[in-house]
Amino acid sequence: MGNKTFAIIKPDAVKNGYTGKIYDRILQADFKILSAKLMKMTKAQAEGFYEVHKERPFYEELTTFMSSGPCMVLALEKDNAVSAWRETIGATNPDEAAEGTIRKDFATNLGENAVHGSDSDENAQKEIGFFFTESELIANQ
Ligand code: CMP
Repeated sequence: MGNKTFAIIKPDAVKNGYTGKIYDRILQADFKILSAKLMKMTKAQAEGFYEVHKERPFYEELTTFMSSGPCMVLALEKDNAVSAWRETIGATNPDEAAEGTIRKDFATNLGENAVHGSDSDENAQKEIGFFFTESELIANQ
């Protein structure tokens, strides 16, 4: 099992003023933050990042939303980081998310669900590489 994952505090959560609260949840769950930056994705970046969902009916809505305002992208480290982060954030649909999870507490709806988490070690590596250079990942220095 890998020890890194990639997270996004999505535009709905940033707009609603939850960036600090979610950042705190990350620290409380004992993740080490290897890198974090506030950015506004271009439509092309959002389309590239979510390329895997290109054929899905929600792709246009998703990429428009993800490029609609500032978000925070993060590279996180912990043992079994991918599954640990997915447990911390809860189910994709906030209506199905467990009590105490980030999506339960901060998500708006399925499309605007506050946070992203990688779904495999392979994708975590790709997603971290999509937004961060090696020199931005502090554990590598
Ligand atoms: P995320 O973990 O970022 O990965 C893909 C995203 O697509 C997912 O979170 C949801 O926000 C979004 N998504 C998944 N299913 C739907 C849907 N049916 N309608 C709109 N957005 C969706």
